[in-house]
Amino acid sequence: MNFTDLQNRIKKLLKEKNAILLVHYYQRGEIQDIADILGDSLALSIEAARTDADIIVFAGVRFMAESAAILSPDKTVLLPREESGCPLADMITAPQLEKAREENPDASVVAYVNSSAEVKAHSDICCTSANAVRVVNSITDAKRVLMIPDGNLARYTSLHTDREIIPWKGYCPVHHFVTTDEVQSVKDRYPRAKFAAHPECRPEVLEMTDFVGSTGGIIRFARETDVKEIIVGTELGIIHQLEKENPDKTFIPVSDKLICQDMKYITLEDIHDALVEMKHVVTVPDRIRIAANRALTRMLEVS
Ligand code: 13P
Ligand code: SF4
Repeated sequence: MNFTDLQNRIKKLLKEKNAILLVHYYQRGEIQDIADILGDSLALSIEAARTDADIIVFAGVRFMAESAAILSPDKTVLLPREESGCPLADMITAPQLEKAREENPDASVVAYVNSSAEVKAHSDICCTSANAVRVVNSITDAKRVLMIPDGNLARYTSLHTDREIIPWKGYCPVHHFVTTDEVQSVKDRYPRAKFAAHPECRPEVLEMTDFVGSTGGIIRFARETDVKEIIVGTELGIIHQLEKENPDKTFIPVSDKLICQDMKYITLEDIHDALVEMKHVVTVPDRIRIAANRALTRMLEVS
């Protein structure tokens, strides 16, 4: 079956089953094109919390589908490919977090949504890359903040707050390995271009940017800037939407290696089969869900 046939079948199934398709910007272009909501982690969490659909099909990675299941426990959440995880999220476990808490008893814990449900349940509040600074600045009962699991997001946030930030040692294996040499070589080839990057990149790379933000932030920046050439410092899937929205602008990947394999597992066939067979259902046990929901809901209140 070709893409168009599959896309039409999926749209029909979504309608018949009162289901909604939430899609992240790193997904394949043909999936982005049929999204009910296409967004960054924050926009997708907000939608997951307020949709009145019976079924949420999440074209993203596990922590995103888990957040939807936590925020909407009465809905069925499907993750079309079970193995779509996030190596960054796996860089801290709940026992490791508890140990860090014991070592820093006066610190609040801010968990990046790129974390497991269990880790969220052991945290005070969640954040995404779109609201990390706002979330940290909203904390009034502690001067020290342990930010987990992404060290680069923590270091970036520390530049925009007077709270003392304790970064965890995790990193995104896609963004962390962008080098300043790569940035410089693309800048040399496109001297008029502006450089927009995700805060999961290293501090020395972020120092070379004109804009730092979530995927949704980068989409907005590209829409609003007058500059016609933009160097993109995040996963390459985002370029599909950037080009679609801005046919008069050129988008140059800072590196061809910026591909998140976990985001790319899901195909149109998987989404179709997930809807037909109602697989793979993502659930979070109540014991974890209630505490994780508190941390996520606190974040949504701040946003
Ligand atoms: P956003 O929240 O910016 O969409 O990022 C999610 C992510 O996984 C970045 O690698
Ligand atoms: Fe996780 Fe990095 Fe992939 Fe985002 S790009 S889902 S942080 S591995």
